[in-house]
Amino acid sequence: MEEKTVPQIDLVLALSESLDLISPAIVGHHIRVAFIALNIGLMMNMKKQELKDLIYGSLIHDVGALSLKDRLDGLEFDLKDPYLHSLVGCNLIRTHKPFTKISDIIKYHHFSWNNIDKIEDNGIKVPLSSQVIHLADRVDVLIDWKGNLYNQIDYIIKQIKIEKGKRFGPDIVDAFIESSTSKIIWQDLSSNNTLSLFNNLLGEELLDIDELLNISRIFERIIDFRSRFTATHSSGVAHVACKLAKYLRMSQREIKMMRIAGNLHDLGKLAVPKEILEKPGALTKKEYEIVKKHVYYTYSILKKIRGIGEIYEWAGLHHERLNGEGYPFNKEGVELSLGSRIMAVADIFTAISEDRPYRRGMKKEQVLLTLDDMAKRNEIDGDILSILKSNYCEINEGRISIQKEIVSEFRKFWNEINLNHPGVI
Ligand SMILES: [Fe+2]
Ligand SMILES: [Fe+2]
Ligand SMILES: [Fe+2]
Repeated sequence: MEEKTVPQIDLVLALSESLDLISPAIVGHHIRVAFIALNIGLMMNMKKQELKDLIYGSLIHDVGALSLKDRLDGLEFDLKDPYLHSLVGCNLIRTHKPFTKISDIIKYHHFSWNNIDKIEDNGIKVPLSSQVIHLADRVDVLIDWKGNLYNQIDYIIKQIKIEKGKRFGPDIVDAFIESSTSKIIWQDLSSNNTLSLFNNLLGEELLDIDELLNISRIFERIIDFRSRFTATHSSGVAHVACKLAKYLRMSQREIKMMRIAGNLHDLGKLAVPKEILEKPGALTKKEYEIVKKHVYYTYSILKKIRGIGEIYEWAGLHHERLNGEGYPFNKEGVELSLGSRIMAVADIFTAISEDRPYRRGMKKEQVLLTLDDMAKRNEIDGDILSILKSNYCEINEGRISIQKEIVSEFRKFWNEINLNHPGVI
């Protein structure tokens, strides 16, 4: 039995924080929606399990917005095509335990109450939690954080009341209004004091390394499926890093940790606008600075997750170089663990070998020349490079076949979405 060390709430909060990277305008949106939704749920006497699902669903409810074609400002995606990002979000997490249950909650989080009877979706009913999130989401959008929150409460309640029995179910509106009478709720909301309420309810639900691996695949999809330019990168890196770790005789547990780090290493890329990610030509200095920030986000978001050991370092230091000329921290060789060194080699090897829509990957000779040069300049670890060279064919063929699999998964994913929404991506 694997030991359970990672609090599930930490992982979901990390995912939620990553989602907020989409735009400075929505920082904290997911957490606030979860807080407002939970207070409504408590007022409605929802059962404990329902409340837990409500929290998890709220914390990642806009997960599908990241993958859409345009990086939209603020919460514009909600207005432009509310069902689309809900459907993408649902499909992104649907196949992954433990999020299967909340995928339906996400799917319907913009569904109007007065349309509920019209839903024809294999007999599925719109979950109550979706409706609560729908209202909580609108409340958060109505708040103007530049102004004084307390002066806005009456206005917000009035706006929500207008939609009673139309967009929002009467019971949910009543529960919201009742919960709004408590000043503490608004105080907690404005001072970001929301976490203790979640913790009280969720307790310490801990995950083991296999469950963590499973959830890291959701992150990997969210990171990679944003763009066909990067659609298979993280899975390629994860595969190569695992193989190198195996040849370097890391333990089974460490090899799994390496795969998780590989899946997560570009998490901070969620903060990079898609136009920059997909720019075919050279980046300007300013654009390059934005891209470079991604590792800092990866590092700082993952560092907050308790019980994941060195994963945050292995993932977050993949652009550091042994000669101290990497980023974001300019760490030197002695400060870089074996795992971080492996991740650096796996990342570079995969990036230069994989095909991108605008260029073919390098051939073996060129790949080795490039990596040899880097080892000579003391940028990457020569011993790890030797292992890669001795096992080149096996490692590279594995990478190619994994990436092929993911390409077809990527196409299938977007085709399914496009059936209902032609011309969306
Ligand atoms: Fe939404
Ligand atoms: Fe939202
Ligand atoms: Fe990177």
